[in-house]
Parts: sequence; C-alpha cells; structure tokens
Amino acid sequence: MIVIEKLDKKDINKVLEIEKICFGNNWIPTPFEREIDKEECIYLVAKDNNENKIIAYGGAWIIIDEVHITIMGVLPDYRKNKIGQKILLNLLREGIKKGAKWATLEVKESNIPAQKLYQKFGFSVKGRRKKYYHQDGEDALIMWTEEINTEQYKNFLDTID
Ligand SMILES: CC(C)(COP(=O)(O)OP(=O)(O)OC[C@H]1O[C@@H](n2cnc3c(N)ncnc32)[C@H](O)[C@@H]1OP(=O)(O)O)[C@@H](O)C(=O)NCCC(=O)NCCS
Repeated sequence: MIVIEKLDKKDINKVLEIEKICFGNNWIPTPFEREIDKEECIYLVAKDNNENKIIAYGGAWIIIDEVHITIMGVLPDYRKNKIGQKILLNLLREGIKKGAKWATLEVKESNIPAQKLYQKFGFSVKGRRKKYYHQDGEDALIMWTEEINTEQYKNFLDTID
C-alpha cells in the first residue's frame, strides 16, 4: 500500500538519497533542513508500507497566492505506477488549502515524462527561461495552471485520485 505523508525530519537523508538517484549528475540537493519547518514549504513523501520504504517525494512553496511545485522524484523501479501523480495531487490539494489560486513550475525542455504528468493536471507552457539549468545549459519551460481554487478544478482532482 502506498501512502502519502509529510516529510519527517528523521527521513531527510533517505529522501536526499532518492533525489541523488533521480537526478544523477544534475543533482542539486534540496535544502530540506532549512525549509522543512517553514509554513510556506510543503514536502511530501510516498511510502510503500509493505516494505516500510520511502519511494518518492515532492515539494512546493507557497508564494502569496501561487503554489510553486519545486521538485518531484520517484525511484526508477516504482515509476509508471501513478505515484508521481499521487504526490502532485497532494501537493496541489495542500497548496489550495494554504490559499493558492494558481500553480506553476519549471521543467526541463527535454523532460517529457514530467511534462506529460504536469499536462495531466492542467499545466500548460506559458514561457521559457533560457539556459536555466546551469549544469547543461538547458532551457526551462515555465508551466502554469488555470485557477485551481475552484470547485471545478477540485472536482477534477477528485477524478484523478
Ligand atoms: C516525472 C516522474 C516524477 C513521474 O513519476 P511516475 O510515478 O513515473 O508518474 P505516474 O506513473 O504518476 O504518471 C502519471 C502521468 O504522467 C505521465 N507520465 C509519467 N511517466 C511518463 C513517461 N515515461 N512517458 C510519458 N508520460 C509519462 C503520464 O501522463 C501519466 O499518466 P498515465 O499513466 O495515465 O499515462 C518520474 O519519471 C521521475 O521521478 N523522473 C525523474 C525526476 C524528474 O524528472 N522529476 C521531475 C522534474 S523536477
């Protein structure tokens, strides 16, 4: 059984290991220690309860009335099992609870799996940041949703559950 929970401080090192596996040479460690207690930061993990193991994580910041999805990763062996979407669903719901009206994120132009995932939740490309990723000089696409704090969008999220 997969459950989504808030990241616990004691699990930060485990999540950093997952992050390293997910991002390889492009890994920039997320400053979980610094951010975990901040009201505007949301960090979630997916746990496989059968194995008592963390298998995925995701993060977001609330900036005024926007929720910025900052990071997501699922261990390779667990991908394509709707775990990424479970994390994103919960980040968006948590964002809405904290007052967000729109959601946004940056994604590598070449990262098609992530773009497809975000499109499934109504994100579309609205801009580009040239050479945003220092390691390889790749551009970031800037994606935005329409308004998320609406009954229509919340009902839509229920259909993804
Ligand atoms: C992107 C990522 C988080 C997706 O996680 P996942 O658990 O495999 O995705 P899910 O199984 O929840 O997929 C949900 C939807 O995303 C899209 N998707 C996911 N993986 C895909 C792939 N390899 N190719 C095409 N679409 C894909 C599909 O629309 C899918 O819906 P469907 O199953 O109804 O077709 C995962 O591939 C990953 O960790 N990648 C490396 C780290 C990364 O790139 N993070 C995002 C940038 S910060």
